[in-house]
Amino acid sequence: MTMKNSKFSISNRSRQGGFFHLPNDNMVKTIGVATLLCLVCSIIVSGAAIVLKPQQVANKLLDKKKNILLVAGISDETKTVAELFTQVEARIVNMSTGEFTDAVDAVTFDQRKAANDAEYRVALDKSQDIASVGAISKYGNVYLVRDGDDVSKIILPISGYGLWSTMYGFIALESDARTVSGITFYEHAETPGLGGEIDNKKWQASWDGKQIVDSQGKPVLSLVKGGVTQNTPDAEYKVDGLAGATLTSNGVSNLIKFWMGEDAFGPYLERVRSATDQVSAVTSINSEKG
Ligand SMILES: Cc1cc2nc3c(=O)[nH]c(=O)nc-3n(C[C@H](O)[C@H](O)[C@H](O)COP(=O)(O)O)c2cc1C
Repeated sequence: MTMKNSKFSISNRSRQGGFFHLPNDNMVKTIGVATLLCLVCSIIVSGAAIVLKPQQVANKLLDKKKNILLVAGISDETKTVAELFTQVEARIVNMSTGEFTDAVDAVTFDQRKAANDAEYRVALDKSQDIASVGAISKYGNVYLVRDGDDVSKIILPISGYGLWSTMYGFIALESDARTVSGITFYEHAETPGLGGEIDNKKWQASWDGKQIVDSQGKPVLSLVKGGVTQNTPDAEYKVDGLAGATLTSNGVSNLIKFWMGEDAFGPYLERVRSATDQVSAVTSINSEKG
């Protein structure tokens, strides 16, 4: 009799008050509330993702610009990143010809992203893929630091596999397209204190003045175990290997060889070098005549 009464009162209450007046241990209410909660949360999360997307894109671009300025050695605490970045001109090169192209927007195009886009992706075969990147974009980002009408530095994105991760960074070259003026890594998961020493500013500074290619234009710069002194033969083509991190060091050597080589920025750098050589040949002929 009591059960009958209570059953009656539950169904009576739910009829009177609807879904939210069902008792909390009611299966329908539990599933209903959980579903509603999931729905509300997913709306909030996807709404936030949509609203914050432009901010995320802007932050990524800002971060990229900061890293480019860092490797270019451009800093001035009184100026904003945007102000400093006016010294840098973003260009796009066709990787296979080495020529500049306007096929895509130089400011927003991202060669890292494009390497996974069927429209731009160029898969590498095993013998080419010494940096273990799998594929590259057919267009590459190049950042030129301007000094009036002249280009003072060429900044190129680099990436390659270390021991645990793909390491992403930038290398800055002098206008001769041979001499290193800076290197930085902005993303990797190598072990702090071992492979993670690629972030070490002192080690990065030791790259300044090193030569990436030999007299034939072949990329030869590599990291060597045991360190480099001025007396080391061909020291200009060698950088100190990282202590206890030979595999990361090999990864860095490989990524330099790859990105400076014929399957990546090599054709572009070769063009710059021959143009520079022609200019210096003309300059020296003129000064001989004078
Ligand atoms: C926990 C742990 C983390 C390591 N992290 C790295 C690393 O980030 N990069 C690297 O090259 N080697 C790393 N190593 C060492 C490698 O396993 C390997 O021994 C080393 O690359 C050999 O370099 P070495 O000849 O200079 O000692 C790590 C080893 C251990 C045990």
